[in-house]
Amino acid sequence: MQNIDWDKLGFKYMDTRCHIRYTWRAGVWGKGELYESPEMGIHIAAGCLHYGQAAFEGLKAFRCRDGSVRIFRPQDNIGRMAMTARRICMPEVPEALYLEALDRVIQANEDYIPPYGTGGSLYIRPLLIGSGLQIGIAPSPEYTFLIMVIPVGAYYKGGLKPVRAVVYDEYDRAAPQGVGHVKVAGNYAASLYAHEKAKREGFEVELYLDAKEHRYVEEFATSNFVGITKQGVYVTPASHSILPSITNLTLMQLARDMGMEVEARPVLFDEIENMAEVGACGTAVVVTPVHEIVRGERVITTGPSDGCGPVLQKLYDRVRAIQYGEAPDAHGWCHLVPGQWAH
Ligand SMILES: Cc1ncc(COP(=O)(O)O)c(C=O)c1O
Repeated sequence: MQNIDWDKLGFKYMDTRCHIRYTWRAGVWGKGELYESPEMGIHIAAGCLHYGQAAFEGLKAFRCRDGSVRIFRPQDNIGRMAMTARRICMPEVPEALYLEALDRVIQANEDYIPPYGTGGSLYIRPLLIGSGLQIGIAPSPEYTFLIMVIPVGAYYKGGLKPVRAVVYDEYDRAAPQGVGHVKVAGNYAASLYAHEKAKREGFEVELYLDAKEHRYVEEFATSNFVGITKQGVYVTPASHSILPSITNLTLMQLARDMGMEVEARPVLFDEIENMAEVGACGTAVVVTPVHEIVRGERVITTGPSDGCGPVLQKLYDRVRAIQYGEAPDAHGWCHLVPGQWAH
């Protein structure tokens, strides 16, 4: 067991024992190796550096109540990275190779997984980049796929804390027919400026509207938008330019399981007035309640300012219970990492 103060962990990079790295050349993926050094050499003319052929993912492994280690919905992240790869002309990482890579790197870093009960987890960050030399604009001739892992802490100790969000009409994140629906690195560069401005102005997150008309809600910079209407309906925007969040898919399924109506459809910004609860959902926190949304002079109150609304809280608790093996995994979402805990 590593000598880490698990209670003090935040969401910050930390060196672990190793990462795993594979190379694709001439149509074939290599065998993959574990590397202890977190540094890697790269050609100065690599395609990812000049033309943005870079995609990443974010998922988590949990130390469960029974001692086992489980990854939450890895096949969905694998599928999403494949979709990203196709969109920016990179080779897909086959599912079997990807799952093997996840198992290998997690087994090798087992003592960095926060113990059950600390509220922490092992954050998994896969990266796929065009690492081959390419100076004319074209897909790179060589690719690198790697997975790094980082122990992270409970985001909200002592309960979910609501945050304030802001809409800046002068900044868009993704074009209607662009790459907003896939996880390319450039999407994050596109939102950095507004994100820094939001932080300076005292907002935790910025909310994007559709780039064409600025009438419909899209998503937050790193999380999907979820609203619970005053009638108790789960509403989330459907749009080609938002990232299909795996957490959102999970919450939608659990809401249906609870007997709630779920609507994934275009959502007008003006509808937010009719929402009893709003949340930002994603792997990092599951769901962060949003209690206020500011757009210019307009301020919309969207839920309690001192805690989480009851529906989002219930959904959050259900996801956490499945992730830590405290509730049955009725939908078969968790992947058991092979190890001495796997009977
Ligand atoms: C733009 C964006 N939307 C939504 C999400 C949430 O997705 P997930 O629930 O798969 O983490 C993320 C985080 O990956 C993101 O970067």
